[in-house]
Amino acid sequence: MASESAEPILTVEGVHRLFGGVHAVAGAGFQVPRGSITGLLGPNGAGKTTLFNIIAGSIRPSSGRIRLDGHDVTGRRPDQLAALGLTRTFQLARGLPELTVLENFALYAKGQPGEALWRLFLNHGAVRRREEEVISEAWDLVRQLNLAHVANNRSSDLSGGQKKLVELGRALLGHPKLLLLDEPMAGVNPALAVELGAYLLAIRKRGVTILVIEHNMSFIRQICDRVVVLASGKVIAEGTFDEIRANETVQSAYLGSSL
Ligand SMILES: Nc1ncnc2c1ncn2[C@@H]1O[C@H](COP(=O)(O)OP(=O)(O)O)[C@@H](O)[C@H]1O
Ligand SMILES: [Mg+2]
Repeated sequence: MASESAEPILTVEGVHRLFGGVHAVAGAGFQVPRGSITGLLGPNGAGKTTLFNIIAGSIRPSSGRIRLDGHDVTGRRPDQLAALGLTRTFQLARGLPELTVLENFALYAKGQPGEALWRLFLNHGAVRRREEEVISEAWDLVRQLNLAHVANNRSSDLSGGQKKLVELGRALLGHPKLLLLDEPMAGVNPALAVELGAYLLAIRKRGVTILVIEHNMSFIRQICDRVVVLASGKVIAEGTFDEIRANETVQSAYLGSSL
């Protein structure tokens, strides 16, 4: 339905979060259009991480509302949000370090809890077909992420950038509608950064909406349709990268930083 698809996938409305006397988020509001890659920028201490944690359900807002895909999800837990199609990545990879890349993907591709129980009731042929599907989905992702040459290496032995790719792959296996990325470029070498940017554009084409916090401005410019700038817990500007770069309020909020 046209009216439904025009509704933003995420709406943040008047969100506040106090930590003792610190007003970390002070009435922030913005929308993430469906199918967009939206960047969340702002100087250190602006409240970006706190707002991300609120959207992802890991901390509660002091007040305000979050709407996800037509549902009021204010205060819901991360697992409840995952069921509605929201997935986040963490700055430190959460996969199992002692497993190989392929094993990590196969584990997450298995998906729904309770699947192990199902096996008891399924005939052998069906179980084998499901196993083959899981392995083939894991291999597809390994190839898409250019990790085939390290597919059988333990995750703990990968470079920082490769670990980020595994983390991204793990998130994608949940088939998210909205993906929250927390500084995906931190610690990634420039060549891999370009590859990761191209990959994010490709997954957006498949219909995944992305909200990303990132300090790397060339990356933001490469992939974001629009950016939201946060300062002192409030949204101070929204628009295309070039629009916000020319915005004087944004420039003075950054005071001499390289935006
Ligand atoms: N758990 C916390 N307890 C107390 N203060 C916090 C906590 N988390 C964040 N803050 C404060 O809230 C403000 C915003 O922090 P943060 O959301 O991390 O900003 P950003 O990610 O934009 O750098 C900062 O002043 C920070 O010190
Ligand atoms: Mg932060």
